[in-house]
Amino acid sequence: MTSDRMVCPVAGFDPFDQAFLRDPHPVLAHARAEVPVFHDQALDAWVVTRYDTIRDIFRDPDRFSATVASEPLRPWCDEAQAIIQGGGVRIPPLLVNNDPPDHQIHRRFLGAPFARPRIRQLGPMVSTVVASQLAPLRAREHFDMVRDVTWEIPVHVLFDFLGVPAEDVATLKRWTASRVRLIWGHPETGEQIALAHSLVEYARYSERFVEHKAHHLGDDYTSDLLRAVGDEQRDPDTVRNEIAVSVFNLLFAGHETTTNMMSNAVRLVLSDRVLWDELRRDPSRAEAIVEEAIRLEPSVTAWRRRTRVDVELDGVAPDRANARDHLSFGFGIHYCLGAQLARMQISELLAQLAVGFPTLALVDDQVLTYVPNTSFPGPEQLLVTQKRASGTAA
Ligand code: HEM
Repeated sequence: MTSDRMVCPVAGFDPFDQAFLRDPHPVLAHARAEVPVFHDQALDAWVVTRYDTIRDIFRDPDRFSATVASEPLRPWCDEAQAIIQGGGVRIPPLLVNNDPPDHQIHRRFLGAPFARPRIRQLGPMVSTVVASQLAPLRAREHFDMVRDVTWEIPVHVLFDFLGVPAEDVATLKRWTASRVRLIWGHPETGEQIALAHSLVEYARYSERFVEHKAHHLGDDYTSDLLRAVGDEQRDPDTVRNEIAVSVFNLLFAGHETTTNMMSNAVRLVLSDRVLWDELRRDPSRAEAIVEEAIRLEPSVTAWRRRTRVDVELDGVAPDRANARDHLSFGFGIHYCLGAQLARMQISELLAQLAVGFPTLALVDDQVLTYVPNTSFPGPEQLLVTQKRASGTAA
C-alpha cells in the first residue's frame, strides 16, 4: 500500500472529536462504501472499516500482530516515560497484546476461571448488584444513568469476581480511567505526567493485592489462579507475576468496557419507545436486545494490529451474510474472555429497568460528551427521568 500522511481522506473522521464520538455512523458508512481502508495522519495508522476485512485480520495473527494493542497511541514525553519505567511498570505480552504460540499458553491458564459454568454461577450476585444499585433510584424523578448506575455495576461485579475489596472501587476507577487516556487518548505533556503517576500506583496496587491474596485465598478468580500455580510446568515466580499483570489488565478491561456498553444499550433502548415497550412487556427479551445493542453501539470500536509483512486489503470485499455475527468482542484467538460476564450484566440491568422503571425516558435535548479516545466510546453522563408512581416507596 502507498502512504499518504498529509491528509485523512475521510471527511469527519476524528476519533477525538465529540461530534464523531456521538455519532460515528455516517462517517464510517461513507468510509466503508468509498474508502474502506485509509491512512489517518493524526493516528499514524491505517484504518480498516469493512466487516469482512476486519474479520480476516482478526483470524490472521501470522500477518497481523496483536503486540501493538497496549502501546500508547502517541509516544509519551520523556518525563512520563521515566516515571513509568522508574516505577517498574511493565505491560508484558500476555493475552490481548500477544501472538501465538505464547498467547495460547497464557489464554489456557488465565482463561480457565472464565469457564461458562463458573461465570453462570455469578448470575445471582450480578442480579443483587443491579438490584441494590437501582433500589435507591426508584423514588427519584431524575438521575444520571452513568454516575448512578452504569459506572458502579460492572466495577462491583468485577471486584467480586477478582476478589478485590469493594472499598478500593473509587481509587481504582480513577486509576483505570487514567489508563484509557494515557494509552488510547492524546493527553498533553502535563497531563501525561499526572497520568503516569497514577499508572505506577495502579500497577503497584495489583502486585500488592496478589501478594496479599496468596496468603488469604478465597472463592475468586485470583485465588483460583494462585491455587493452580503449582500445576504449571513453569517457574512459580513467573506465573505469580503473570497473575499480577493479569489482574492489572482485568481491573481495566473488565469494567470500563461494560460501563460504556451499559450506557450505550440504555440510551439505545430509551431512544426507541417501541423497543422499550416491548422490553417492558417481556423483560426476557433483554438478552436479544443486548446482543443487538452490542452490534450497533459497541463499547470497543477500534483495535490495533501491526502488520508483519506487506499486505493488500480490500482488493475484493464480499458482502457478509449474517449481520448478527458482530465483531464487538473481537474474533478468533483474542475473542473477549469476559463476553459472557458482560452480556449477563447488561441484560440484567435492562430487564430490571424494564420491570422497575416503566416510565423511564432520556432527558430531552441533552448533549452527550465522550472521553476523547480511539477505542472505548460511552457517554460521560446519561440523564434520565421518570414519572414517579403514586405510592412508590422511597
Ligand atoms: C461489553 C463489554 C466488553 C467489550 C465490548 C469487550 C471487547 C473486547 C474486544 C473487542 C476484545 C478483543 C481485542 C482483540 O481482538 O485484540 C476483548 C478482549 C478481551 N477482553 Fe473484553 N470486552 C468487554 C468486556 C470484558 C470483560 C467484562 C472482561 C473480563 C472480566 C474482558 C476481558 C477481556 C480479555 C482478558 C481480553 C483478551 C483476550 C485475549 O487476547 O485472548 N472483557 N474484549
